[in-house]
Amino acid sequence: MKAKAFIFDLDGVLTDTARYHYLAWKELADKLGYYFDQEINERLKGVSRIKSFQIILEVNNALNKYTLEEQEKFANEKNDIYVELIKNVTNNDILPGINELLEKCKESNIKCAVASASKNAFSVLENLGIKDKFDYISDARLIKNTKPDPEVFIDCMKALNLLPNECIGFEDAEAGIEAIQAAKMMSVGINVTCNNIKPTLEFKSTSEIDFDKIIEVHNSLN
Ligand code: BG6
Ligand code: MG
Repeated sequence: MKAKAFIFDLDGVLTDTARYHYLAWKELADKLGYYFDQEINERLKGVSRIKSFQIILEVNNALNKYTLEEQEKFANEKNDIYVELIKNVTNNDILPGINELLEKCKESNIKCAVASASKNAFSVLENLGIKDKFDYISDARLIKNTKPDPEVFIDCMKALNLLPNECIGFEDAEAGIEAIQAAKMMSVGINVTCNNIKPTLEFKSTSEIDFDKIIEVHNSLN
């Protein structure tokens, strides 16, 4: 089966907003007196807003300290900080190699979609100036089960009217790689730290993404 679509995660794959998510959580955690570092942050990648806050609470043995309503209030506080930070995002924040990759997809008739857990995905893509380059952008507000569940990748695949073995997913988080694999698609890891699973193909950074290699590996699978 020929590759017909590339489905991209947003934060950490198309742009480095993973850094802003970290800074926003760090500010909230510091304010509440909870420990939070880059290592814990790895576990939040690809995970929903509320679940992210619950992981921070869990690590600090404080999961039972708040009602769900209170947790949502704090998670929204983090979002307010995040929304301020992403106001500064411009097309300079598109990660190296991404523009070229999207161009290559266009030339090769490969559709592009975004499978992000972020409810801010549309505004980030707007600020990056690349929203129109995608054939489909999944709306995180409509996705019930977040990564590692495959729902968001399946949503993209269905919107593009394709089969799993025609789609290739790109992710920087283990939960995302799990989601792609659960959707039965080929997975490409970008600077990903995986403890339990392995992506089909890995690149250290977006600038190293090799279009021809991806297609070659995909062809060898099908
Ligand atoms: C994912 C990020 O893309 O979106 C997570 O990797 C983030 O870190 C999640 O928590 C949800 O984002 P938002 O913008 O809806 O809070
Ligand atoms: Mg990501």
